[in-house]
Amino acid sequence: MQVIHTAQGLREWRDAGSGRIGLVPTMGNLHAGHMSLVASARAHCERVVVSIFVNPLQFGPNDDLDRYPRTFEADRAALEAANVDAVFAPTVEQMYPNGDDNKTTVQVAGVTDMLCGTRRPGHFTGVATIVTKLFNLVRPDTAFFGEKDFQQLLVIRRMAEDLCMGVEIIGVPTVREDDGLARSSRNQYLNANERRQAPSLAAALNDCAERLAAGERDFHALEARGWARLVHAGFDPDYFEIRGADLSAPQSDMVHFRVLVAAYLGQARLIDNVGV
Ligand code: PAJ
Repeated sequence: MQVIHTAQGLREWRDAGSGRIGLVPTMGNLHAGHMSLVASARAHCERVVVSIFVNPLQFGPNDDLDRYPRTFEADRAALEAANVDAVFAPTVEQMYPNGDDNKTTVQVAGVTDMLCGTRRPGHFTGVATIVTKLFNLVRPDTAFFGEKDFQQLLVIRRMAEDLCMGVEIIGVPTVREDDGLARSSRNQYLNANERRQAPSLAAALNDCAERLAAGERDFHALEARGWARLVHAGFDPDYFEIRGADLSAPQSDMVHFRVLVAAYLGQARLIDNVGV
């Protein structure tokens, strides 16, 4: 496995081989959710490259950029064991060569006007910009993203289509702990007591999903019920929303939905979603 730290090194790796290239973009601190994306890439592509980069542009001023866990040596060992071909771990200077000034950014329309898009201003522009840079450097055939960040997955799909990037985007199902909590690097911010409460997030989503599947269509009542469950479990909810499967406004005659939640539990802002 090659460990590459520069854009030039990445281009050289790219040009030195042939076969389908699969890219798995990450911010590191790898867990079973990330490794499921890697396994999917390994199954689809001859050459698998995983990027590890904590992207400052997608963090807001009050976000956790400084304390975001960085565990490069453990990540490298996990990727080596998973038979990955290359790890791309650039510096901030490599990815933002002009520093903080005159940044060229990518703004994706429509799907960013809701949920985390309105709660975290600039977040998806930061994500779309860094993923565009990674696509331009790696020029992958296929890129893999988790359904755990469902809105992010749709933002990237929309961007790749709208900007004719020619990269196939594959969504990979959410990997969970045995008690239902979606795997996330941010789960480490939870203390023991909060960790015991955390599965209530997935439980509230599943309860809502079951009711939708059973034919309930009073979306406001269902959202209020989910919200109340979270407050009862000690969360400070940011949103609990029912949307269409493509995140459009939900309609009574739809059969497929997505239920999405973001909520604070202590210091951690947790997000999760389920499909119906
Ligand atoms: P990060 O949070 O490290 O996640 C990297 C990828 O792993 C994302 O596609 C995410 O959806 C996926 N992932 C995380 N937890 C998962 C889980 N429990 N099950 C399945 N997939 C999971 O998302 C980012 O980084 C960044 O925004 C990035 C796309 C790398 C751009 O900086």
